[in-house]
Amino acid sequence: MRPLLNVIDNRIFHLHNDSVSYILYLLPNNQLGHLYYGPRVTATAQTLEAYTKLESKSGGTVHFSAENTMFTLADQLQEYPVYGTSDFRQGAIAATRGDAPLYLNFTYQGFAESHEKPRNLALPASFGQAGQVTVLTVDLADAAHGLTLQQHYAMFDDSAAVVRWQTVTNVGDAALTLTRALSGGLDLPTADYRFVQLSGNWARERHVKSRPLAQGTTAIESQRGASSHQQNPYVALQAADGTLQSGEAFGFNLIYSGNFQASAEVNEWNQTRFMIGLHPDQFAWRLDPTTSFTTPEAVVTYSNAGLAGLSRTNADFVRNHVIAPIWRDRPRPVVLNSWEAAYFDFDTEKLLKLAAAGKKVGIDCFVLDDGWFGHRDDDRSSLGDWQVYAKKFPHGIDGFAQSIHDLGLQFGLWFEPEMISPRSNLIAVHPDWVVAPPHERRAIGRNQYVLDFANPAVVDNLFAQMSKVIDATHLEYIKWDMNRNITEAYSQYLAAIGRPQGEFFHRYIQGVYRLYAKLLTAYPDVLIEGCAGGGGRFDLGILFYSPQIWVSDDSDAVERLKIQTGTALGYPLSAMSNHVTAVPNGQVNRTTPLETRFNVALFGTLGYELDLTQEPQSVLDAIAAQIRLYKKLQPLVLTGDFHFLRTLEDGEHNTVAWAIEAADHSRIAFGFYRLLANPDGNAVDRLRLPFVDSQASYSISGRAVPVSGAVLKHLGLRLPYEFNGPNQAVAELAGDFQSKLLILTKEG
Ligand code: DGJ
Repeated sequence: MRPLLNVIDNRIFHLHNDSVSYILYLLPNNQLGHLYYGPRVTATAQTLEAYTKLESKSGGTVHFSAENTMFTLADQLQEYPVYGTSDFRQGAIAATRGDAPLYLNFTYQGFAESHEKPRNLALPASFGQAGQVTVLTVDLADAAHGLTLQQHYAMFDDSAAVVRWQTVTNVGDAALTLTRALSGGLDLPTADYRFVQLSGNWARERHVKSRPLAQGTTAIESQRGASSHQQNPYVALQAADGTLQSGEAFGFNLIYSGNFQASAEVNEWNQTRFMIGLHPDQFAWRLDPTTSFTTPEAVVTYSNAGLAGLSRTNADFVRNHVIAPIWRDRPRPVVLNSWEAAYFDFDTEKLLKLAAAGKKVGIDCFVLDDGWFGHRDDDRSSLGDWQVYAKKFPHGIDGFAQSIHDLGLQFGLWFEPEMISPRSNLIAVHPDWVVAPPHERRAIGRNQYVLDFANPAVVDNLFAQMSKVIDATHLEYIKWDMNRNITEAYSQYLAAIGRPQGEFFHRYIQGVYRLYAKLLTAYPDVLIEGCAGGGGRFDLGILFYSPQIWVSDDSDAVERLKIQTGTALGYPLSAMSNHVTAVPNGQVNRTTPLETRFNVALFGTLGYELDLTQEPQSVLDAIAAQIRLYKKLQPLVLTGDFHFLRTLEDGEHNTVAWAIEAADHSRIAFGFYRLLANPDGNAVDRLRLPFVDSQASYSISGRAVPVSGAVLKHLGLRLPYEFNGPNQAVAELAGDFQSKLLILTKEG
């Protein structure tokens, strides 16, 4: 049933589905107050009484106006606050006219309810079918400053989530500048939470970091022009006494790929204000009369089953309301990628041998990575010149694609559309297309500059170049890479059309989305995999267009245990592109067993990235068996429920256990990983599987006797035997970096 909106006494708005309630109300000054977000409740006019604060809390309080000296915004939970209006916390919105700050005062005008949220490629946003979604729009206005503000809230029938965004419109007759336009968040009455963030760097993205809130501000941000390797826009507030599996937790994310800020500010009364949105630094948007600005969508999710429960809510939300419906349940191709197999060092013959070897082991799609265009023999040239490198492909890229298709494989190609090399034809013709003020020193990263995607002519040029290649090759897959962050942010185009440079970062990302939209409109069946020097832009904005994203350039199985754990807190497994690569690993020089590399990679979208022509037959046979098994398990990855059972933070910090249960509960894939061998093993090591059906019996791959669900639930699943002196004959894990995959099948 679609979510319902109850309006009580014309001042309380209660949006709810079967699992959660979101309640807002009119404060005494007619601004919007926040009442509640959490498990479904029944709201009445009395609900408000529990929250109403009319008395100032302490002597120093400043009151909102001379008319009401009992009322201050300083301690009110609010929906979209403004700094400096008796509230000293950070606000969600700020504007200036000339050099004068505007103290905005948006008061209630009315509301509207709708039941449609169609998917529209123009900008990334959540979507739902008619009858599945309720959208509440509250209209507010600040007549003195000539502005209106629409607060939008969307709730879907199947998700413990509320989506928030805003539209600000200049209805006055003079321009003003928005200097802050966050997407909102959640004001909470206490500060008993931990701030859980996914942070790291290139090759170690999205490691889980957690710290308790304290009076003051806890924040993460990116000002790199991309959501970044260093910080991810997904943040959770976890109950201070919660665990991975228990306790209340709120999730926050942004359907956006550029600069962002997420902060939790705790005030003097231990109230928490969580906000997320466009980073206010480097942002200044001129709002001319009659124009509007719409903020990216913020997604707020809820679970009372800990971070693990929240991860399932997040995954379902993303699969059902962000990822393109055509890819939600559709098997993704198992790719063989040329990068770590050949880097820049290849010719047609070498690649065709590689592709043929891939076909033999069951690969679906051959992906030609970097190095196929311009005169690209290393990373110092040719970005921007998307024409085939004739020396490597004498029969053209179309001829090569035909040879791949003739092998019975799909064809995929790497592009890095947003970049330009100092040595390229494009820069010679369009030096003004580089992001940077003209004639000034500019920083360089990976030997390349960034193209000004705020300029529509740049986007059109890239689309024209790419579509020529797509039309010639009939490719099925694109890897869209992006390998450096933006410095000296400046658009010569914006300068020429008289727009403020403070609009650049947002307009840049809008240009990225415009290219995505043009490509997917022209080629709706092409699978575009996102990538940014590994996982430097793993966010919901990209996932709206790309159903999967390359997780990290670090494909070592042990490193991936950490990276995939963090990523799975906020995103579905189907979004994670994982490749089995060669050993010793190129990033950390570690040698892990092939089985462990596969057992980690299968918790996502599987691919291979190694020179199969150099591998012995035994390895090729093992890979062929892995691909066959993966194809049987892929429906679980796409539509099943992921369960964190043990992470490296738990216990002895040496083992990890993950499981995916099929959507129809018929099967479970259980992965167990042990980093270092343990001389005295664990006498009886078992793990409870709390989600199984206690009435059923389960057969377990490689084990003779079925086990009842009740035993698995309460006593636990026996973990694989570890090697030690006496048990050598039966040991299932011997040595370092071992793992075991068990398939549990429900028997009735
Ligand atoms: C960075 C990507 O993450 C890699 O997978 C590879 O595509 C290289 N770029 C190619 O330059």
